[in-house]
Amino acid sequence: MSGRIHLSKPDVTELEERLVLEALRSGWVAPLGPMVDRFETEVAERIGVAGALALSSGTAALHLALLDVGAGPGKVVLVPSMTFAASANAVVYTGAEPVFVDSDPRDGNVDPGLLIEAVDTLRREGHDIAAVMTVDLFGRCADHSDIGPALQDREIPLVEDAAEGLGATRDGQAAGSFGRAAALSFNGNKIITTSGGGMLVSDDLDLLAHARHLSTQARDNAPWYEHTEIGYNYRLSNLLAALGIAQLSRLDAMIMRRRQIRDRYAAALTTVPGVEVLARADGLDDRGDNHWLTCVTLPEATSPDRVVGHLNALDIEARHLWKPMHLQPVHRSRRSFITGASERLFRSAVALPSGSGLSDDDVDRVIDGVLESLRAVVAPLPSHA
Ligand SMILES: Cc1ncc(COP(=O)(O)O)c(C=O)c1O
Repeated sequence: MSGRIHLSKPDVTELEERLVLEALRSGWVAPLGPMVDRFETEVAERIGVAGALALSSGTAALHLALLDVGAGPGKVVLVPSMTFAASANAVVYTGAEPVFVDSDPRDGNVDPGLLIEAVDTLRREGHDIAAVMTVDLFGRCADHSDIGPALQDREIPLVEDAAEGLGATRDGQAAGSFGRAAALSFNGNKIITTSGGGMLVSDDLDLLAHARHLSTQARDNAPWYEHTEIGYNYRLSNLLAALGIAQLSRLDAMIMRRRQIRDRYAAALTTVPGVEVLARADGLDDRGDNHWLTCVTLPEATSPDRVVGHLNALDIEARHLWKPMHLQPVHRSRRSFITGASERLFRSAVALPSGSGLSDDDVDRVIDGVLESLRAVVAPLPSHA
């Protein structure tokens, strides 16, 4: 048996090495420089938006996006409950209150009908809604077809948490281009990585200019250090941007490999009664997804604990889905609109290793591990060739 299999390990080649070395040798080691400019231009072009701002994390990008659409004390922001903590934390940083909305059971993304209902309920009750946040969960765009027009009618800005979504599309439109602004993450486990980093993207150049100002300590244009606003130290370094440029040039190949991995899981695991690939069952089409993580729902007789525990014992990293925000102790007192869908997914699905660097043998090792963990609860088990 070979080494540990990670959930989503960085996939780096000599190209990354070459560009980082080039940046280092150029002398641009500061948090600004030509690689940052080039990375911003290339990401904006890829997504089809007017501009981009490279930042130290996706969380920083969310924070600045929310500040720029006016989130703050006395306001609320609607956030999907099934997400990583950073989506809700960024709202809290601004002083606004997150309100959680449940999932579409088929893919875990926010339930569009429930979201619009929640917006109207909150408005009727007199709440001041600063923004709605969608999350492109596990690399699949939220279903924006109804959300976009409904928010436009109600003049509420959409902030897209596209941290997991770079390279995904929905109806031909790229993740990161649906809202007033979107946040991308390049942390170590994302589809492309700068080891740590993020980006704010938008068609609104004024919004980006103000976010840029805030991200560099909000230093005013004066001969000395003059500040009229509270700023942050949120910029990305030129060295890390070089890594990002190399990764971006390989994005399509990495998406293709992640899709092959999903196909392999689907072929071997969905023959087991009760096992489905999230976002593939119920007639859903996942061809626009970037396949960042492949998640599978499990038969009722078992639990994610059992499968994750078994795989971990085999030195294979697998994870529970995000524990919904409305169940998190830190958010217990907050408002939420809940159908039970995200909780059911949390209690019935697991995320499997999906990194583009995995070999077919690695994927087979994972499949064997999953099947073994199901052996006691599903009989007879189909065999894996
Ligand atoms: C949905 C989601 N939002 C936000 C973030 C935060 O990104 P970062 O880790 O770059 O701050 C992540 C990833 O970590 C994420 O998965």
